[in-house]
Amino acid sequence: MLDALKDELLSQVNAAGDLAALEEVRVTALGKKGRITGFMKELGGLSPDERRERGQQLNALKDEIGAAIDARKADLARAHLEARLKAERIDVTLPVRPETEGRIHPISQTIDEMVAIFAEMGFSVAEGPDVEDDFHNFTALNFPPGHPARDMHDTFYLPDNGDKKMLLRTHTSPVQVRTMLNKKPPIRIIAPGRTYRSDYDMTHTPMFHQIEGLVIDEATNMGHLKGCLIEFCRAFFDVDDLPLRFRPSFFPFTEPSAEVDIGCSRKGGELKLGNYGDWLEILGCGMVHPNVLEACGIDSTKYQGFAFGMGIERVAMLKYGIPDLRTFFEADLRWLKHYGFVPLDVPSMAQGLTR
Ligand code: DAH
Repeated sequence: MLDALKDELLSQVNAAGDLAALEEVRVTALGKKGRITGFMKELGGLSPDERRERGQQLNALKDEIGAAIDARKADLARAHLEARLKAERIDVTLPVRPETEGRIHPISQTIDEMVAIFAEMGFSVAEGPDVEDDFHNFTALNFPPGHPARDMHDTFYLPDNGDKKMLLRTHTSPVQVRTMLNKKPPIRIIAPGRTYRSDYDMTHTPMFHQIEGLVIDEATNMGHLKGCLIEFCRAFFDVDDLPLRFRPSFFPFTEPSAEVDIGCSRKGGELKLGNYGDWLEILGCGMVHPNVLEACGIDSTKYQGFAFGMGIERVAMLKYGIPDLRTFFEADLRWLKHYGFVPLDVPSMAQGLTR
């Protein structure tokens, strides 16, 4: 009789198509009101000898059915996983995602590239407001009132509100001032951002971008300045032996000051960067003037450092062969499709700046 029950229960176990059905079978057999449990309850009415024998048989049956249920459970789980794997199968050789239609503007891309390079050298990014006051844009940078260098900046002034004289920053150098006023040396920052001057022609737009660099420490010298800019230019333009030439120049906020040229060739009307004997100016730099350090609350007998500033459109035009500055800001979708960058190609020093 127990053999018949065993066969019946085993066939139910094997017929269970999913975990819920299997659980039902378990309850029918081994649950509180289950068939085997029911026989167990009858044991009390048997003689001791019968009870022992019957008890052993029932326990063996219970174990066997329990084991069959466990095995079936494992089978069902495996089959479920296999079905899922089959259903969710993906072709890993397909492209990651459909290519997006949008493009990253060359200015954003260039800034990302510059940040990637300088970040690798230990610089962090600093920011300041577009609307500045005269102190941060000029005075603290050692442009005394009435100094002719102020006139060269074609400054946009905001309407006089009787308070501070406000203006649109003419360069990113005021971020140097803000950083030094707010942070103690050592300082190592870059500040990319918008700048404004009242000028418009083939090579000037009233809004343009610059990136500023500032390093302040106890023993920072002109050698560090040169090494930093040589490394940057070679990485940015991706020319390993790109020559740099430091020419003496003047800025009120640096002493000594220099302008940096990179090697190029203009043969046949085509511009090529590299060691070809010709030169192209790309940035200004110098050792931070002691007056600037003092105006920003830094002891110029203890600290010194270097700074540099560069036009972002200018180097983007050079690197990517974009001929006309004004096109950057015309919001022409055809131009952006042509010169823009795929959003997934995020520049990094490890994976390459641009592909
Ligand atoms: N602010 C300068 C400009 O707009 C560029 C510049 C030159 C920045 C030399 C600097 C520097 O930090 O050291 O023309």
